Amino acid sequence: MKRVTKAVFPVAGLGSRFLPATKASPKEMMPIVDKPLIQYAVEEAVAAGMTDLVFITGRSKRAIEDHFDKAYELETELEMRGKADLLKIVRDTVPSHVNCIYIRQAEALGLGHAVLCAASVVGDEPFAVLLADDLLDSLGGSPVMQQMAEVYNYHRCSVLGVMNVPREQTRQYGIVSTERDSGEVQRVSGIVEKPKPEDAPSTQAVIGRYILTGRIFDHLRQLEPGAGGELQLTDAIASLLKEEAVLAYQFRGVRYDCGSKLGYLQATVELGLKHPEVGEEFAAFLASRV
Ligand code: G1P
Repeated sequence: MKRVTKAVFPVAGLGSRFLPATKASPKEMMPIVDKPLIQYAVEEAVAAGMTDLVFITGRSKRAIEDHFDKAYELETELEMRGKADLLKIVRDTVPSHVNCIYIRQAEALGLGHAVLCAASVVGDEPFAVLLADDLLDSLGGSPVMQQMAEVYNYHRCSVLGVMNVPREQTRQYGIVSTERDSGEVQRVSGIVEKPKPEDAPSTQAVIGRYILTGRIFDHLRQLEPGAGGELQLTDAIASLLKEEAVLAYQFRGVRYDCGSKLGYLQATVELGLKHPEVGEEFAAFLASRV
């Protein structure tokens, strides 16, 4: 039985909501406490058994490649100073059995286009897509991508991670309609990108976790510009639905929208409180402030 071993990380986005922080460095390298956002997503994919990580990068994104590469000077320096614990942290950004592949997306034409850039590497296999802006804390349970891989392994069809959002926020997301309105795994009957609240078919929003079958590439190749004039992954999924089953999975965990300042701050506070080194002192500090 073929398992999902390839994960695609679209990381070419401009990060304009975090300017000037993202003027010269990638938004995916912004840290939550002491780890960059992209590393949280990579760890989630690796925990789910992914061994080929495909990064769709763009200009000013070199830091991501450096982050997952060997850092000779730094490692030598730490070795000389006998800093074994720091050396381990530096070496463990990605395990040695994992292969990192970088593809440049020359033009930012949309998420659908970014995923299509991975076609020649992925072939016709099922693969995962993780958007690093969405930080998912599984609260001690299995990481969310692992939960989704289990759903895929059982049903053998595309799986979208979804959660309920307030109706006034539907225009920020891909929104699915499903055959039933409750249950952890449901069959998707429709999907639309960023509908107005009054037009949204439901309040079930796709968060940035997908497992897609290789058939999606045929639908991505035929895309016309959609919402915001971009080639939308959501539109390709709407087209895929006409020939294959697609499932919506209500994941177990909490999602932080680290593409927004508020979500980024919330993630920083929550993960700061849990941090083994500073958590306790940070909690005391917060208590003294409120
Ligand atoms: C993208 C997708 C959207 C999805 C969202 C999740 O939108 O196009 O369907 O709901 O990610 O974060 P973006 O946030 O890039 O505008």
